[in-house]
Amino acid sequence: MSTQSIIHLHGLFVILSLVLFSLRGYWMLRECPALQARWVKITPHIVDTLLLLTALWAAWLIFWSHGTHPAFITVKIIGLLVYIGLGLVALKLGKTKTIRLAAFVAALVVYAYLIAVGVTMRAIPFIS
Ligand code: HEM
Repeated sequence: MSTQSIIHLHGLFVILSLVLFSLRGYWMLRECPALQARWVKITPHIVDTLLLLTALWAAWLIFWSHGTHPAFITVKIIGLLVYIGLGLVALKLGKTKTIRLAAFVAALVVYAYLIAVGVTMRAIPFIS
C-alpha cells in the first residue's frame, strides 16, 4: 500500500472516529438508550484502533524509518492521550451531566486542534 493511501486511510478513520464520538456524546446528553447498544460499544474501539495503527504506520513510513521525528508527531501523540482521557470522562467517568458536557466539548476542541495539526503538519497550525 502506498504512503498516500495510508495517510488517506488515517484521514478516513479520523472522520469516522469523530462521527462516532459526536453521536455518542449527543446520545449521552439526551440519555438515549442507543448508547447501550452492542455495536455502539464495540465499533468505536475498532475504529480508534485502526486510527492509531494507520497513524503509527504513516509515521513509520514518512519519518521514523528515516530516523526523524518532527515536533507535530509528539504533539499528536500527547493530544491523542488527552482526547482519550476527556472522552472517558465525557462518556463514562463524569459524575454530573455538567462535567460530562464540559469534557465532551473540551474533547471536540482538542480533536479539532489535532486535525489542524495533521493537515498543516505544524504543532502551532496556520502560523508560519
Ligand atoms: C485523534 C488523533 C489524530 C487526529 C485527529 C489526526 C488527524 C490527522 C489528519 C486530519 C491528517 C491529514 C490526513 C490527510 O491528509 O488525508 C493526519 C495526517 C497524519 N497523521 Fe494524524 N491524527 C491523529 C493522530 C495521529 C498520531 C497519534 C500520529 C502519530 C503517531 C499521527 C500521524 C500522522 C501522520 C504521519 C500524518 C501524515 C502527515 C503527512 O501528510 O505527511 N496522527 N492526521
